[in-house]
Amino acid sequence: MTPPTALAARPSADRHIPVRRLRVPPDVVDSDWIVADDPIFSHLLATLSAVFPNGEDFFVASVRRHRDAVADNPVLKAQVKGFIGQEAMHGREHRALNRRLAEVGYNTVRADRAIQRICNLILKARPRLLAIAATAAAEHYTGLLAETALEHEPTRKILFGQESVEPLICWHSLEELEHKNVAFDVMVAAGAGYPIRAAGFLATSTALAGYVGVEWGRSVFEDRHRITRAHLRQFRRNFPRQRLINWRFLVKAWAYLRPGFHPDDTNTDAVVEHWRTVLADVATSGKAAG
Ligand SMILES: [Fe+2]
Ligand SMILES: [Fe+2]
Repeated sequence: MTPPTALAARPSADRHIPVRRLRVPPDVVDSDWIVADDPIFSHLLATLSAVFPNGEDFFVASVRRHRDAVADNPVLKAQVKGFIGQEAMHGREHRALNRRLAEVGYNTVRADRAIQRICNLILKARPRLLAIAATAAAEHYTGLLAETALEHEPTRKILFGQESVEPLICWHSLEELEHKNVAFDVMVAAGAGYPIRAAGFLATSTALAGYVGVEWGRSVFEDRHRITRAHLRQFRRNFPRQRLINWRFLVKAWAYLRPGFHPDDTNTDAVVEHWRTVLADVATSGKAAG
């Protein structure tokens, strides 16, 4: 088994997690396809956005449940506070975007309700550590989404290029990287070992990631009469150029099951520093939620 990296040596060991307010209102989706001329990827984005608010409420509830486990670790305790504040803001902005998406015809309400039911089931499941383990795994997925969006410009421009969407996605992605260790470290502090961590990954992969796949397919199918040959050609052009749905992403996702894995194994500090500067005028520090 690979020995875990010493906490002091990890990039997250003393990371400050600020809570920012987004200054760009995500309520100006100006076309029916949020990925230009591509209804298929548009439905993927709408589905992802739809599952975020209740998913993030679930992450916060899971982390809060184990706050006592980090009471004697002032750095992690402060990071938990930052995590909760950041996720609360993400939920707020995605709810606003989802309302707008629903107005222009996306079925964000269905995904929102389904994810709430799934999250409630996991929160009630036994052992009680399963929820934080599922959260740590979900944060691994959101961290990978964030890394891809911020590091791979073609993915960002193709999938999130609309003026009103790009700042929201970049701000959300930056903060997902800033707090990517928190749920994992809380899970470890709460006493979860490898079997629970692996169970959490499987629960998240099947229930949450699996649901996104099913809902995406269902939404595209329901909209099939509006999808033209030109749209299909655009999807075929976009698909190989983006890295959200590709083998690299899957390999990185499954690396979570490696014994000794920690979110800091991939050092994303340079990306975080770069995007903190880029977004300084778009997202400003606010008061941390508790
Ligand atoms: Fe988030
Ligand atoms: Fe997160």
